[in-house]
Amino acid sequence: MRVLVTGGAGFIGSRVVRALAAHGHEPVVLDALLPTAHADPPPPVPGVERITGDVRDREVVAAALRGVDAVCHQAAMVGLGKDFSDAPDYVSCNDLGTAVLLTAMAEAGVPRLVLAGSMVVYGEGRYTCPEHGAVQPGPRSAARLRAGGFDPLCPRCGATLRPGLVTEDAPADPRNTYATTKLAQEHLAAAWARTTGGSAVSLRYHNVYGPGMPRDTPYAGVASFFRSALSRGEPPTVFEDGGQRRDFVHVDDVAEANVRTLEAPRERSGFTAYNTGSGEPHTVGEMAAALAEAYGGPDPVVTGEFRLGDVRHITASSDRIRAELGWRAGISFAEGMREFARATMRSPVPV
Ligand SMILES: NC(=O)c1ccc[n+]([C@@H]2O[C@H](COP(=O)([O-])OP(=O)(O)OC[C@H]3O[C@@H](n4cnc5c(N)ncnc54)[C@H](O)[C@@H]3O)[C@@H](O)[C@H]2O)c1
Ligand SMILES: [Zn+2]
Repeated sequence: MRVLVTGGAGFIGSRVVRALAAHGHEPVVLDALLPTAHADPPPPVPGVERITGDVRDREVVAAALRGVDAVCHQAAMVGLGKDFSDAPDYVSCNDLGTAVLLTAMAEAGVPRLVLAGSMVVYGEGRYTCPEHGAVQPGPRSAARLRAGGFDPLCPRCGATLRPGLVTEDAPADPRNTYATTKLAQEHLAAAWARTTGGSAVSLRYHNVYGPGMPRDTPYAGVASFFRSALSRGEPPTVFEDGGQRRDFVHVDDVAEANVRTLEAPRERSGFTAYNTGSGEPHTVGEMAAALAEAYGGPDPVVTGEFRLGDVRHITASSDRIRAELGWRAGISFAEGMREFARATMRSPVPV
């Protein structure tokens, strides 16, 4: 299968490219090599065609789609960004980019899309109140966060909530610009699938980590901040009280999930979302400690700082993808963190 991998020079995309090639497919990369993602553009994967171009450029995309059977759409601006002024760039890259890509796919008759989705579409995740059952807490107030009240409370009675596992049919509740653009990508993909009879699958990745992860920019993930601090000889600094629950999934597991989705028989048209996580929730504090120990660096420091757009807990059930596509993560937290502590990160992180 010839597969166009947008964002194929990125952290996840480049591993998807390798996994596709390893499974005997023919990946083609389209990547704009954004300066926010790459201080130095990475070398192309040997033997794989790489087109330097933007998914918002109709002509470039139309040319890149020639002879392609499916598109694996990883290109996006990622992370929380600096502040709200980044919004036009996020919307342009992620949503205009997806719209241009889908239009070109419709014109070229490419029937199949796998989208790099994200758990950020769920917002604060899923909680139960001892009194009121399943509830959806609203955004956390700055005043409460400043006072160290990190856990969301029941919107009806104010009780402490128990975090649970989010399933794909949980209501969407994006809490920042990036999350909003990731949700809009899914809606665009669903609209495309409906009108063209194509099939679109969004793999809602959880916190992806692993070799080649970008250095600590405002656009990177928490594992990268910790790892970068350790390589500078500093302790990882953990926000809030370190009790934030996440699902950390290894980049090679995510790459395999993409291959598995592309190889699955195309039984149905339309849009489907799959949570793509390890199924093994851990706290951010546990991750910092595991990395510091494996690296042989100083113990993490818990700072009580917070970022307004962050959610407290988000852990998913990845049962649907296991049941329907037969994928499950193969790399455990302990094994993955040991490897990540020593892995090379994307330059120019000093290691
Ligand atoms: N890293 C995570 O934990 C995580 C979690 C959930 C979802 N995702 C999604 O996975 C995908 C890949 O993320 P990543 O972590 O590998 O990020 P990354 O920044 O390493 O890779 C993204 C790549 O896309 C390219 N790109 C961005 N905009 C482009 C455009 N308009 N045209 C062409 N290329 C463009 C960049 O140059 C970069 O190489 C993104 O869609 C992201 O939203 C990532
Ligand atoms: Zn309640």
